[in-house]
Amino acid sequence: MAARARDVAHLLTTPLLPDDLLGTVNPVWSTTEPAGRVVARRPETADTTTLLLRTGPRRPRHRPGQYVGVGTRLDGVWHWRTYSVTSRPDDRLLAVTVTALPGGTVSGVLAHGTPVGTVLRLGPPAGEFVLPEPVSEKLLFVTAGSGVTPVMGMLRHLAATRPEVLAGAVAVHCDRTEADVVFAAELRALAAATGLRLVERHTARDGRITPDALADLVPDWAGRQAWACGPAGLLDDLADWWDRHGDRDALHVERFVAPVPTAAAGTGGRVRFTESRIEADAAPGEPLMRAGEAAGAILPNGCRMGICHTCVGRLRSGAVTNLHTGERHDTPGEPVRTCVSSAAGDVEIEL
Ligand code: FES
Repeated sequence: MAARARDVAHLLTTPLLPDDLLGTVNPVWSTTEPAGRVVARRPETADTTTLLLRTGPRRPRHRPGQYVGVGTRLDGVWHWRTYSVTSRPDDRLLAVTVTALPGGTVSGVLAHGTPVGTVLRLGPPAGEFVLPEPVSEKLLFVTAGSGVTPVMGMLRHLAATRPEVLAGAVAVHCDRTEADVVFAAELRALAAATGLRLVERHTARDGRITPDALADLVPDWAGRQAWACGPAGLLDDLADWWDRHGDRDALHVERFVAPVPTAAAGTGGRVRFTESRIEADAAPGEPLMRAGEAAGAILPNGCRMGICHTCVGRLRSGAVTNLHTGERHDTPGEPVRTCVSSAAGDVEIEL
C-alpha cells in the first residue's frame, strides 16, 4: 500500500520529494522523518508501559538489545528520549518499553499519557549492547529495575531463534518488590518453557546484589559471556569485579545515560553549509549545528543530542570529529550529524 502510494506520489509530485508528500498523507510513511503510530499500549507495572508502534515499510532492522530515539511533541516542541526496543527484529510491530521517571515530564507522558493513535517520531536503532551473531557461548544476564528492557529483547529473540542457548543461560534480575518487576509473568513463563535459570531478587527484602553474592548464585560466572544493565553503582561494582577476578572483555554493560562528549573535540575550523550558503568559524569542540545557527543558518534539528538523525548533512570536503566517540571522519559523502560533530579543520557540509 505504502509502496504504491509512493509511486503515485512520485508521479504527481516530481520534482518535489515524494517522501515529503507521503509523510504529509500519513506520517508513518515518511522516510525523511521516520515515525510510528501507537496501535496498542501494554501496562507492565504501575510506572512502566510498553507502547506498540506500527511503523513505515522501511523501518531499519534493529539488533536485540539496541535502543531507538523516540520523539514526542509537547506544547508544540519535539522532545527526544531513548528507549530499548523490546520486540524481536521480525515482529510486525515495534515495541518500546517506557518507565516514568520521578519528575520526568517526557517519560511520564509517554508511559501514562500517550493514547492509541498518537504518532511518535523515531530515530534509527543504535547501541552496541547486543548479542554476538551467531551466539554460541554460555550466557549470563544481570539486570536491575528497567535495566531488564534491553535484555528482554534479547531473551525474546533467543527464545524464538536459539532456545537451546537460552536453556543454558542464567538471568539474575533485581527490583524493589515483586510488584515492581517489569515482564515478571513473561520472565517466569520463559524460564518454565525454555529451561532458562531465572533468579529474581527483591531488594526491599534481600538488599542490593553484590558481585560476590552474584558469584555465589552463579558459581560458573567466569565461564560465561555476561550482559548487565541497571543503575550505575551496580554496573561499576560488576566492572570492578570482572576486572579483578575475571575477563573484563566478557562483561558487556549498558548505561542509561546520555553519552558524554570526549576530550578529543577536534581542532575547530571554518565550516561552510553549501545549501544555505552560510559560513561560520567553529571553535574546537563546538557542534557544527551551533556554529551554523550562530551565523544565521536555519538547520534541520530534532533532539540535538545525536539520537534522531534529523540534522544529518553529507560531508562534501574536510573532516569532522564525532563528539561522542572522538573519531575523525573525512570520507566525502559520509553522513554527518551536525549536532554532535565538530570541525577538524575547514569543512563543507551539504545542508
Ligand atoms: S541527531 Fe537529533 S538533532 Fe542531531
